[in-house]
Amino acid sequence: MSQTLNSSAPRKFRAPGRVNLIGEHTDYNDGFVMPAAINLSVFASVWPRDDRKLQIKSDRFDDEIEFDLNQPNRAAEHHWSDYAVGVAVMLERAGHRLRGARLELRGEVPLGSGLSSSAAVEVATACALTAISNVTIDRRELALLCQRAENEYVGARVGIMDQFVSLFGKEQKALLLDCRSLDYKLLPLPDTVNLVICNTMVKHALAASAYNERRAQCEAGVKHLAQFLPHVRALRDVTLAQLEQYGRDLPEVVYRRCRHVITENTRVLAAGEALERHDLYRFGELMRGSHFSLRDDYEVSSWELDVMVELAFMSDGVYGARMTGGGFGGCTVNIVDVPYVDEFTSFIARQYEHITKLRPEIYVCEASNGAEEIR
Ligand code: GLA
Repeated sequence: MSQTLNSSAPRKFRAPGRVNLIGEHTDYNDGFVMPAAINLSVFASVWPRDDRKLQIKSDRFDDEIEFDLNQPNRAAEHHWSDYAVGVAVMLERAGHRLRGARLELRGEVPLGSGLSSSAAVEVATACALTAISNVTIDRRELALLCQRAENEYVGARVGIMDQFVSLFGKEQKALLLDCRSLDYKLLPLPDTVNLVICNTMVKHALAASAYNERRAQCEAGVKHLAQFLPHVRALRDVTLAQLEQYGRDLPEVVYRRCRHVITENTRVLAAGEALERHDLYRFGELMRGSHFSLRDDYEVSSWELDVMVELAFMSDGVYGARMTGGGFGGCTVNIVDVPYVDEFTSFIARQYEHITKLRPEIYVCEASNGAEEIR
């Protein structure tokens, strides 16, 4: 180990992945989302150094990188380490002076499955680097800096949902977030259900460009609608009645994209009310509506995701099922009564493999706390 490391025992941090229960593709439209942090995390061990070098290693990859904090203008390298380096760069750009460090990352969140392994890496890195540098920073600010790392350094135009819930999630709670004000509410998830996440094992190669295309379509919708409704800054500000009245001249695809976002925002708020009433049946109905809207209006589902969701609808003990995350593959989220979980997972595993010839991974999860230091 290098001479410049000045302590043998590292400090350790944990940042969770997330599953989004409802509110998909609404965060970058200033809308509402309802994710939960899950008990699959990224762990960061950190040793301070006496210089300004950052050494980064991950258990998922063979190579190790070194980054000089005194030369922060190095561009992203389309490398796994970009997420961690991007966070360091954004912290420094925001005026927080960091110490050099050795950072070792270990991940439980499956990569590229739509469970936000990248946000978990960003948040774990941010917690570790700020802690050893004695930088105190508000968690909202930290979430925004991590998002900026992904937007400006990595080059993915993601919204705020993943980073926010990785920092603010709570055990047994779903987090209802207003992505404009960043006000949030923690809502009870009954302990009689599990969040069962089913991985289709498919990752769509075009997901990033399709994501950006959806964002551009939403922006086009806003631009058109704002001509008639000057208060409109984002689709968050538009009602369905207004879309019907002023959106008639929009290209049909853009109209459907807008309709998804507008109806999804309404569903998230209704889902929040349902959870407060402990009404999982209503919650499940709204999840189903969300899936169909993502499939038909927003067109971000896939055959495999649809198969997985239809299988869930055929199973006992399931309140709701839908695709989760950006789409085109990745996972579904299912709210399943605890006594039915085993039956559900074996049914899904068997049938999904039978139909698609792909062996799914299934994670039985619980809503967990946001990022923390492990002592
Ligand atoms: C990805 C992004 C999020 C959000 C979802 C879709 O997970 O990282 O910000 O936009 O897609 O809801």
